[in-house]
Amino acid sequence: MYLPFFFVLTLLVSLHSATAGDYCVADLKQPEGPSGYSCKTPAKVTVDDFVFHGLATVGNTSNIIKAAVTPAFSAQFPGVNGLGLSIARLDIAAGGVIPMHTHPGGSEVLVVIQGCIKAGFIDSANDVYVKTLNRGDVMVFPQGLLHFQINAGKYPAIAFVSFSSPSPGLQITDFAFFANGLPTELVTGTTFIPGDVVKKLKAVLGGKN
Ligand SMILES: *[C@@H]1O[C@H](CO)[C@@H](O)[C@H](O)[C@H]1NC(C)=O
Repeated sequence: MYLPFFFVLTLLVSLHSATAGDYCVADLKQPEGPSGYSCKTPAKVTVDDFVFHGLATVGNTSNIIKAAVTPAFSAQFPGVNGLGLSIARLDIAAGGVIPMHTHPGGSEVLVVIQGCIKAGFIDSANDVYVKTLNRGDVMVFPQGLLHFQINAGKYPAIAFVSFSSPSPGLQITDFAFFANGLPTELVTGTTFIPGDVVKKLKAVLGGKN
């Protein structure tokens, strides 16, 4: 009587755990390592781990760059962990910019949804690739290279960007130089940017020293 039931239960459990290799939904309670988050117990995975609603929301562009990046990386969208991809939304108000930055972990493909964006990157030979993009245009930014997007129109621009990593990272170059405690003399010494300019930028971006 109980034996078949136990057999079916065992079968169901093993069928369920057989799906574990299909995905590795991020367990956000554990720290993220170089190869991503560890996997949430498959029994606790739900459809909502694979769905992200945040890109429907207009980003808040009331800031110094007049732009917003809304990421759907593993930390926000646990279902992409381990899948080698992720997505984000860019909102760039008129006069706004996503300043020169890099994503150390992945290449990026951008599609303009609304407005006009001038985008570009600089390769490691320091050659520059810049293009003005309109609705529907797509541009790709190779992994790790410095790049930017600037609103080239009079109206708010929107783009979606996808990455070849669930956790591509985002390092804004100006913030790296001028929004931390790296002493002015070291910024000047390593970039040749005059100290008074460094101090001005630190004041604007929140850097110290
Ligand atoms: C947008 O951000 C600014 C600055 O942080 C804040 O004052 C404002 O309330 C935010 N607006 C919305 C709609 O969240």
